Amino acid sequence: MQSQRIGVLTSGGDCPGLNAVLRGVTKAAENLNWQVVGFQDGFEGLLPPSRYIVLDRSKTAGIMQQGGTILGTTNRGHFVAKTGAGEKARVPDEIIERARQTLDELEIKGLIVVGGDGSLSTALQLHEAGIPIMGVPKTIDNDLEATSMTFGFYSAVGCVTDALDRLHSTAMSHKRVMVLEVMGRHAGWIALFGGVAGGADIILLPEIPFEWRCVADAVRQRDAEGYQSTMIVVAEGARPRDGEQHFLQNDNGEHRLGGIGEIVTHEVMKRTGKESRCCVLGHLQRGGAPTTEDRLLATRFGVKAVQLVQEGKFGAMVSYQNHEILDAPIAQAVHRLRVVTPDHQLVKTAREIGISFGDVSALVQAAC
Ligand code: F6P
Repeated sequence: MQSQRIGVLTSGGDCPGLNAVLRGVTKAAENLNWQVVGFQDGFEGLLPPSRYIVLDRSKTAGIMQQGGTILGTTNRGHFVAKTGAGEKARVPDEIIERARQTLDELEIKGLIVVGGDGSLSTALQLHEAGIPIMGVPKTIDNDLEATSMTFGFYSAVGCVTDALDRLHSTAMSHKRVMVLEVMGRHAGWIALFGGVAGGADIILLPEIPFEWRCVADAVRQRDAEGYQSTMIVVAEGARPRDGEQHFLQNDNGEHRLGGIGEIVTHEVMKRTGKESRCCVLGHLQRGGAPTTEDRLLATRFGVKAVQLVQEGKFGAMVSYQNHEILDAPIAQAVHRLRVVTPDHQLVKTAREIGISFGDVSALVQAAC
């Protein structure tokens, strides 16, 4: 096998499993006698003077179980191509040319980009500019079209489930309502899966706008049934039917989704008179060791990405479909987000076991 050099970078918000991908890429490439150049801090590492480390077995030994990414990452900088769901930005030609210059100088034959919706949108622009790109989808939000699963998701869901297990006991002791705010800007997969697995009573998703009176009635109904405590999971992007998503402003003047947990807590307390508390899980969901499932998926993604580079299938990304790792065009993945549909089987299952989505569904209607 002729020796050649490939590049890899991790971009966007980090998630458990990124290191497992890097390890898979490195081992598969070394088997082909290829060298792997790992660019640092996402696409930023491509800009001259470039920043990279050569990845080999010694650099990637023992990293599979580590959270984060040994290459560093960013969801800011010169290469931002998406500013929200569907809001696209063009990466300036001059930036793309500087990246190309680095790749040419290092004689990189293919660049593996491990990223979510925004980073893969950037990757697509680089591909359209003639740079040989291979995508590996990642996001805890699991909201990418063209792959039915991304690594990081089950690690995040596990974090939510664990948090709910802990909150249950304190909620029961104090006979309180506990509200857990979880990540999920446009897609409520983490809230849905974590909520069901953790025994939530009410789950509020970005995809199903809720009614305050239904949320309050669901709490009252539980009290009437003698339960006394109620667990509510709310995705950061959830909103009431008659309201907007809630943003917080940080010190840099940036508006970031968040705060809906406190609002739900306050409103439930006001409407039901029940003592309520809020817990925001935040970046705990993105940290820590990947679960077994995420290690497996990430490793399989990394190895498959190298195979696809070998086949010269640039402009594609690895994709999980029906228990197999296949490939799909990056363009298909970033075309639109994969969100929870109100008729998703798990939504129906949740309703059948009495979970309220705070909407006027057939089951909740009676209570509202
Ligand atoms: O896209 C993943 C995600 O975890 C979102 O659910 C969340 O809103 C966002 O990242 C937070 O990103 P940051 O690292 O900028 O705080």
